[in-house]
Amino acid sequence: MEGAPAYVRAIAPYRAGKPIEEVAREYGLNADRIIKLASNENPLGMPASARAAIQGALQDLGRYPDSNGFDLKAAIASRYEVPVDWITLCNGSNDGLELAARAFCGAGESIVYSQYAFIVYALSTQAIGARAIEVPALAYGHDLEAMSAAIAEDTRVVFVANPNNPTGTFVDARRLEAFLSRVPARVAVVLDEAYTEYLEPEARYDSMGWVRSYPNLIVSRTLSKAYGLAGLRVGFMVAQAPLTDLINRVRQPFNVNSLAQAAAVAALADDAFLARSYELNRNGVAQLEQGFEQLGLEFVPSSGNFVLVRVGRADLINERLLQAGIIVRPVGNYNLPQWLRVTVGLPDENGAFLAALAEALAVAGGSGSTAGAGAAGGTSGTADAAGDGRASGAEGAAAGG
Ligand SMILES: Cc1ncc(COP(=O)(O)O)c(C=O)c1O
Repeated sequence: MEGAPAYVRAIAPYRAGKPIEEVAREYGLNADRIIKLASNENPLGMPASARAAIQGALQDLGRYPDSNGFDLKAAIASRYEVPVDWITLCNGSNDGLELAARAFCGAGESIVYSQYAFIVYALSTQAIGARAIEVPALAYGHDLEAMSAAIAEDTRVVFVANPNNPTGTFVDARRLEAFLSRVPARVAVVLDEAYTEYLEPEARYDSMGWVRSYPNLIVSRTLSKAYGLAGLRVGFMVAQAPLTDLINRVRQPFNVNSLAQAAAVAALADDAFLARSYELNRNGVAQLEQGFEQLGLEFVPSSGNFVLVRVGRADLINERLLQAGIIVRPVGNYNLPQWLRVTVGLPDENGAFLAALAEALAVAGGSGSTAGAGAAGGTSGTADAAGDGRASGAEGAAAGG
């Protein structure tokens, strides 16, 4: 379609992580036995409290949802001690990231984000015809000094993911606040905290408190990860009222459906589920990282619910894992063609994955695997076995989870 803007035609087609049913069909496997560690979902599934709330909300789906999300905003306001008019409800936090780009940045103006940062920042930038300023990563994470230095006259938005997906890297509170104090007030900072509930207690910080001090700060949260509601699509953003007002002008009035609103209210109150999710994840990250150490694989220490691991021929290894009924996420679309991102599963799922990975590496040995290269957690100079990063084309713009 020639009339479509060139910047839209330039967007790589979206390809989500492979659904279980698709892998079952393609590989002739029993769907019940497939292990999906590909989309940073909660291995506990959804909380029973949310399921019950949905049953109640099923009565009245003939009506539109509450456009203002009265109950859900009240729950968020009380949990995070923020005014109701500082809250924007989103169709998953992905929606909020796009809304922020649209509300604050025009075509031809610029948006700053880090190399290896969550791919939706790039997609949101492209979709509105804005100019991307991608700042080289520091040890796979955000280089906040370089990012503030990269802000141009026409920069309208800076995206920061903390922790980041797909690298799992984390910037501590001191560096983050120093960064906020350097960013000019005319630039909106979107602090994407999709994985914040997985942080260890000593790493946590009060970003909601920062919203009071920084009128250009937008904190983004999701119910898709630790709260276990990925399929319902619900997240929210917190920013001072003037920014929130602008974001809401580009928001679809009914972007969060009734079932999602009811489930989110219940999930936010379910401290026991959150605590179980946290605990399971801490142990799972340790299990995966120890497994990678034993296999001599480099990985990036993770603050999220996934680990990025360097396997060499990620395309080959991924194929073998799929044959074994295990779905993980190749990250060629992030220009990391030697790496796989693995979501923390239940303990036996993590174990099955590590066993299948060991087998896949043994079979692939000699064809470019970095097994035995060691150097866990650091960078390494291992040659790019996939050559030129062409794996990125094959993966498209896979963004989800
Ligand atoms: C860093 C980050 N932000 C936001 C999202 C969007 O998640 P959702 O739209 O399900 O809230 C994800 C999903 O993987 C993510 O990794």
